[in-house]
Amino acid sequence: MVGKIRIGALISGSGTNLQAIIEACDDEKIEGRMVFVGSDDPEASGLQRAREKNIPAFVMDYKSIIREFRREPAKAVLPDDFDFKEIFAKQALFSDQDDPAKGQFFLISRAIAEARLLDAMQPYPFDLLVLAGFMRNLTPYFIDRVNTVPNQPRIMNIHPALLPAFAGLDGYGDTFRYGCKVGGCTVHFIDYGEDTGPIIGQRAFEIRPEDTIDTIREKGLKLEWELYPECIQLFAAGRISVVRRNFDLGKGKKVARRIVVIEQ
Ligand code: GAR
Repeated sequence: MVGKIRIGALISGSGTNLQAIIEACDDEKIEGRMVFVGSDDPEASGLQRAREKNIPAFVMDYKSIIREFRREPAKAVLPDDFDFKEIFAKQALFSDQDDPAKGQFFLISRAIAEARLLDAMQPYPFDLLVLAGFMRNLTPYFIDRVNTVPNQPRIMNIHPALLPAFAGLDGYGDTFRYGCKVGGCTVHFIDYGEDTGPIIGQRAFEIRPEDTIDTIREKGLKLEWELYPECIQLFAAGRISVVRRNFDLGKGKKVARRIVVIEQ
């Protein structure tokens, strides 16, 4: 990529990762600039960090959109280009074992929110979208409208655990409660599952007997603030490609997975 990449960010909380990314852009550790910050939560204190830097910031209030849909589903305005069958077939958030009504409610309510989020993002063209503590699963409806070039994903996420262990909402808490001796964080591309996309980078830290959930979170966040900007810079420098690898497990068994290859 020639010149600076345009980075959009989605947050839900305090935005310390957002801050680390903005500072890395300012310090030219990332050849990029932040072009918008969106939040699903009007209370997200990280929005203030964007405003202080004069970065356009907006809210798409998921909670009220979902509440509205629950109250009066018949009144919901579904996006014109929403095809439930297609989205359901692609998604990997719900399995056949799950209650179909739950999956249906989730995918439809989120597509309504996501269509409005895409509208809010529309004035700010971007090369990379970073999820920086964005606590919402994205559905294929949204993902396909951002990832328009095959095999060139452009939505990154940071997760507070060493994936594929402890996907979900509380990576550090789950790591701690499991009694792990090592914890860490992972930056990965988003795919149709929950925290399942190709891994770009990881950092680990030791968990000692005296550690608490608070010290673990502290150690982890410090590493996140280094790792996320580094991974974003790899993207900005055009050093990341996603390739499909086939692995032979022997006895006629094979497994295929899309993985990230970093150009040295
Ligand atoms: C970070 O620990 C990030 O890894 C985590 O939320 C925190 C956000 O902190 N993200 C997730 O759990 C995503 N599922 P921040 O708002 O201070 O950057």
